[in-house]
Amino acid sequence: MDIRFDNKVAFVTGAAGGIGFAAAKIFAEAGAKVAMADINEKRINEAADSLNCTGYDVLPITLDVSDEQQVKMAVEQVVSHFGKIDVAYNNVGIHAAVRENLADTEGWDFDHVLAVNLRGIWNCTKYELIEMKKYGKGAIVNCSSQGGLVGIPCIGAYNASKHGILGLTKSVALEYARQGIRINAICPGTCETPMVKHAIEMSPDHMARVIDAIPLGRVGKPEEIASMVLLLCSDYAGFAVGQTWAMDGGYTVM
Ligand code: NAI
Repeated sequence: MDIRFDNKVAFVTGAAGGIGFAAAKIFAEAGAKVAMADINEKRINEAADSLNCTGYDVLPITLDVSDEQQVKMAVEQVVSHFGKIDVAYNNVGIHAAVRENLADTEGWDFDHVLAVNLRGIWNCTKYELIEMKKYGKGAIVNCSSQGGLVGIPCIGAYNASKHGILGLTKSVALEYARQGIRINAICPGTCETPMVKHAIEMSPDHMARVIDAIPLGRVGKPEEIASMVLLLCSDYAGFAVGQTWAMDGGYTVM
């Protein structure tokens, strides 16, 4: 199966590193023009340079996905530069502080995580749909988590946001299926990314428990998640609508 995205435009958020960068790279390798967005201006420019240097056509964009106006402007920038958006991977997510229990957590922490992880996906999906509706074709993948499928102690805000993404994805997928736009969600398990490196530094005991519980016996690679995103955005997944795809080494099977 040779998945090609020649003459297509992909929009990937949180693309400065980790899974987002792996997704931007795999879309570029498949022939797509790629708009790579991230809140970190320096790192997204460096990430885009690293792909443009090797001959790919990528556009770096700085945005905060929790800010609806910035997302609207970012989508307009992609369309003005590349002419359209065919596929989108809404990847941005941040980890909440790990606390022993909810009574020790702060309201602002919950609000911030929900604003980035859930409202951010709503913002991106909305403006991507406005564009895709014009051509009556498109595919969107939203990034949830293994924490969107099962309870994990000490990260209630993160898990609430990731469960919310699945509910949002299912409902919007039903709204747009007959307009030619497929929307699905992926649930990565623990992968080797800057987010997980930071989580291990901040909460070694919690992360050791999570990693020990992976049936496959190892953490995932960002490229293993990116290849599923590529497949779901392709016509090979043309009958997949509103579904949740766990890529977690078996974590949520037990
Ligand atoms: P990461 O932290 O390594 O990369 C996330 C990127 O998003 C960073 O480049 C960061 O600058 C950017 N970002 C953060 N806030 C932003 C905002 N408000 N607006 C725009 N960009 C922003 O994350 P990683 O590990 O690559 O995770 C990617 C997605 O996968 C996230 O949604 C995460 O929740 C999910 N996930 C990751 C897992 C893992 O083990 N790495 C496990 C389960 C889910």
